[in-house]
Amino acid sequence: MKFFLDTADLDEIAEAASWGALAGVTTNPTLYARVGGSLADFNAHIKRICDIVGPACPVSAESLAMTRDELVADGRELAAIAPNVVVKIPTMVEGLAATRTLADEGIRVNMTLCFTVPQAMLAARAGARYISPFVGRFDDISEDGIAHVANIVNAIGNYDFTDNTVGGEQIEIIAASIRSADHVTQCALMGSDIATVPFGVLKKIVSHPLTDRGIESFIKDWEKVK
Ligand code: G3P
Repeated sequence: MKFFLDTADLDEIAEAASWGALAGVTTNPTLYARVGGSLADFNAHIKRICDIVGPACPVSAESLAMTRDELVADGRELAAIAPNVVVKIPTMVEGLAATRTLADEGIRVNMTLCFTVPQAMLAARAGARYISPFVGRFDDISEDGIAHVANIVNAIGNYDFTDNTVGGEQIEIIAASIRSADHVTQCALMGSDIATVPFGVLKKIVSHPLTDRGIESFIKDWEKVK
């Protein structure tokens, strides 16, 4: 499973990228508003993220246009920011149609706000390169988010969509709305291709009290042999 960072915070992105295990970044309008972003600066902000993570890391930038023509226009503009920009589009009829057009033009789409297997299947057939089902938001309504996302991972894994995607690349599922270390564990166990995690969760999962205790006792014993 790859780790993406779910944030628009440049310091968090730079810090996580420096750890050497980051494979991508996802942003959304809420995350951008949280860092005090403005519409006028949005494209420049996405460019800053791309510059931090480098060309090998996909960076999702979302369009909230509500017609297919506007989504396509936004998608083209976002994709022109940098070669690693992935256009994030909500799962809806206009979004599917725009995804088809953008994919046919070689622009990669991350279809987001995906909650069901049929939605994911349609996103895949429309040419989405990434599909983002949300774990935590199911938990918020007292449903088992992990089980829902596992169904999507399994269903997409049943088929080959490579004749349908940009450059014949495999579709990857990005488990989003990750709120805890256990979510990350369950995503890895179910075989999700990617988990996009907030920086707070990433910091938590890197350490364990037994690791800390082990380091402490090794240092103490090493002092004895020095
Ligand atoms: O990027 C979308 C997703 O990760 C949002 O998470 O916590 O707002 O449900 P959350």
